[in-house]
Amino acid sequence: MKITIQGDINVSYVQNLCLIFFPGQKFSEHEKESEETPKADVRVEREEEGVRATVTLEAGDRKHTATSFAPNNPLHSDHRLAQIAVGAAVYEAGKKVTEFTPPWGILVGIRPGKVAAKLYDELGTKTAVKKVLTGDYLLTNKKAQLITTVALNEQKLVRRYKPDTCSLYVSIPFCPTRCAYCSFVSYATPRLLSMIPDYLERLKADIAETVRIIKEKGQRIVTVYIGGGTPTTLDEAQLGGLLEFIGRQIDPAGLDEYTLEGGRPDTITPKKLSVAVNCGVSRISINPQTLNEDILKSIGRKHTADDFFRAYYQARQSGFKTINTDVIAGLPGDNFPSFAKTMDQIVQLRPENITVHTFFVKKASDILHSGVNVYSRNSREAVQSVDYSQIVTTQSKYHPYYLYRQKNTVGNLENVGFSLDGHDGIYNCLIMAEEHDIYACGAGAVTKLVSKDGNLRRFYMPKYPYEYLDMPLDGEDRRAIFDEIRYFE
Ligand SMILES: C[S@@+](CC[C@H](N)C(=O)[O-])C[C@H]1O[C@@H](n2cnc3c(N)ncnc32)[C@H](O)[C@@H]1O
Ligand code: SF4
Repeated sequence: MKITIQGDINVSYVQNLCLIFFPGQKFSEHEKESEETPKADVRVEREEEGVRATVTLEAGDRKHTATSFAPNNPLHSDHRLAQIAVGAAVYEAGKKVTEFTPPWGILVGIRPGKVAAKLYDELGTKTAVKKVLTGDYLLTNKKAQLITTVALNEQKLVRRYKPDTCSLYVSIPFCPTRCAYCSFVSYATPRLLSMIPDYLERLKADIAETVRIIKEKGQRIVTVYIGGGTPTTLDEAQLGGLLEFIGRQIDPAGLDEYTLEGGRPDTITPKKLSVAVNCGVSRISINPQTLNEDILKSIGRKHTADDFFRAYYQARQSGFKTINTDVIAGLPGDNFPSFAKTMDQIVQLRPENITVHTFFVKKASDILHSGVNVYSRNSREAVQSVDYSQIVTTQSKYHPYYLYRQKNTVGNLENVGFSLDGHDGIYNCLIMAEEHDIYACGAGAVTKLVSKDGNLRRFYMPKYPYEYLDMPLDGEDRRAIFDEIRYFE
C-alpha cells in the first residue's frame, strides 16, 4: 500500500489504521506498485481550535475523500488529538471505499483495555468512558461496553498485586506437528524435536538462575505460566522432570495460579495430567479450536473432536482447579452454525475458562500460501460467531475477564477470555495490564519489567531453541535483564 503524509502524524499509526480496511497490506518502499495497490493520502493541520485531517483513500475503482476536525479537549494531548482527527477521516473514507464498518472504530492497539482503564481513572464513570470510546474512538456500543467491563475487571485484579510480586513464564516452543494456521515459532519436525533433552537442561539452569535473582531482589512469585508451543509435547518423564525441578525452586503452594498450556489434546495422557496436579499445577489448557471434524482436518490439527473430549474428561478427573479451552472463530471454511455448535458443546462441559480467539493471519502460517482467502474483512460469519460466543457465555454465567486484539484478524475482531466466577486467569490479566514484572525463561521468551517511571522494559531471549542453546547463561544480554532494573534498591 502506498501512503503519503503531510503534517505531524506518526507513519506507523497511519499504517495500522489502513490495515483495518486493507488487511495484509505491506508498506515497504520496495513493494511493487500497481493499479490495484491501495493508496492513502493524509494531510494534518493544527488550527487554533483543534486539529483538521483530510484523507483520500483509493482502492481499485473506488476513491473517497473525508475531512475530520477534532476540537481541543483537555482529555487529549495534541498528539492524541491529531490521531483522533486522522483516525476519523480514515474511518469515513475507509467505510466508503471498502463498505466495511470496523467494530473497534479507530482503536488500533492490541490492549484496548489499557485505553479504557486510563479513561476510567480520568473520568471516574463507566458511562463517561463509553462516551469517549464511541464518540472519539468510534467503537460500536457493543465493543465499548465489552471493553469497559473487561478493563474494570482486569484493573481490580491487577491492582491486588503490589510491586514486590512478580510472575514467571517458561517457554516450551515445541509441538508434535505444525498446524496450518499457526504462526508461532515452534519446532515440530523429528530432527528439531530431538533437541528437547538439551533444551530442558539449559532451561532448568535458566529457571534456577532467574529464581535466584528474583529472591535476591526480594520479590515473591505469584503466578507461573508454562506456555508454548505445546508444553505437553514433552514425554511423561521430561514433563515430570521439569515440573519437579520447578517445584524445588518455587513452592507451588505459595502460588495464586500455576498454568500448564497443554493445548493439543493428542499430547495429553493421564500420567502427564497426574504428574502436573501432583506438582501443583492449578490451571491447564486443553484446546479443541473447533469441534468440526472437517475443519480440524483442514487446519492440520491432527486430532479429532473425540480426542478433545477424552483429554478434557481426563483433566477433569485429575483434579485441576481450572480448565481452559481455546476456540477460534472465523477459521477458513468454518461457518456460523458450525461455530455455534462448537460453542454450545464447550459451554455444556463447563470449563472454568473459555478463550475465544478470532482467526488471524501472519506471514509464517502455511495457510497463507494455500490459496485460501484468509483476509476476509467483511466476514458476516465471523461477526456472528464472535457475537454468539459473547451471548452464550453470558447466558451460561461466564463473564469476559480479559481481551486483546491482533492485527489482521478476520473482521478486525477481538480475542476474549471468559471465566466462571473465581477463575479469572490471573497471569493473562497481569500480562495485559503491563503493570507487573514478568520474568521469562526459554527460547522466544520476553521478560517484561516495570521500571521506576512506570514504563515497561522488555528483554528478549533468542527466538529459536538452537540460538538459545548457544547463549551463555551469564552472558551480558541476560545479565542486563537483572542488573538494569532493581525495583527495590
Ligand atoms: C500459543 S497458541 C498455543 C496453544 C496450543 N499449542 C494449541 O494449539 O492448542 C495459543 C492459542 O492461540 C490461538 N491461535 C493460534 N493461532 C491462531 C490464529 N492464526 N488465529 C487465531 N487464533 C490462533 C489458538 O486458540 C491457540 O490455542
Ligand atoms: S497451533 Fe498450537 S499445536 Fe499447532 S503448531 Fe501452533 S502452537 Fe503448535
